[in-house]
Amino acid sequence: MRKQIAAANWKMNLEKEKANELVESLISEPVEMKDNHAVILGVPAVYLNDINEKIKNIDDYFVAAQDCSSNNNGAFTGEISCSILASIGVKYAIIGHSERRMYHNESNSLLAEKVDRAFENNIIPIFCCGEPLNIREAGTQNNYVEVQISESLFHLPAEKIKTLVIAYEPIWAIGTGKTATEQQAQEIHKHIRNFIAAKYGNDVAESISILYGGSVKGSNASSIFSQPDVDGGLVGGASLKADEFKEIIKGLK
Ligand code: 13P
Repeated sequence: MRKQIAAANWKMNLEKEKANELVESLISEPVEMKDNHAVILGVPAVYLNDINEKIKNIDDYFVAAQDCSSNNNGAFTGEISCSILASIGVKYAIIGHSERRMYHNESNSLLAEKVDRAFENNIIPIFCCGEPLNIREAGTQNNYVEVQISESLFHLPAEKIKTLVIAYEPIWAIGTGKTATEQQAQEIHKHIRNFIAAKYGNDVAESISILYGGSVKGSNASSIFSQPDVDGGLVGGASLKADEFKEIIKGLK
């Protein structure tokens, strides 16, 4: 069975003491998980090493970078390369979050470069896609997401793409308290899987975990995750509270 993942995206939140408290409460009494479950903590880069040290002996808990450079090491002030991330044991990187696309003008072709750098360093991309409200209202979300996926991922060989994680995050649901309905989530997740299957075949498409993101919380996680093509979630606000995030982990199927 595909991996079912509860992924946190802390974004630019939590000073050190609060960050440590949160991790301590997640790991002191970890939620019971099935063999195919995983928890991934997308924490600010300065905490990656410390938090990785804290969780590395806990099965199926991982840290993720929230971004990575499209370049290899070199004169790129302020950037963090995938080889540096890999050297401290980071196994996942969120790539193409809508906030990076919006505030840093990240294009589909730049994201293709980042995805390549990640794979070259054995880092699994958590590739984000998702449409803004006007596209949803126009009913063209499937096509919008197809372009994001094909332009950033379809140069990959099957053996690589089958290992990555996709996060579908409709921008209108991020931080708004408005979630996609279970049906809306299932419909577009299925569409994404079919789109990948049409290029790479069913085996590849069936092996990719597709997470839903956008106002997931303890009270709605299990119903959204129960959909057959929703393999967990990428969670912002609700991942900053231990009890709430534990409920979300418990919602994995
Ligand atoms: P919220 O869960 O705060 O809506 O954020 C979702 C998100 O952007 C996760 O990457």
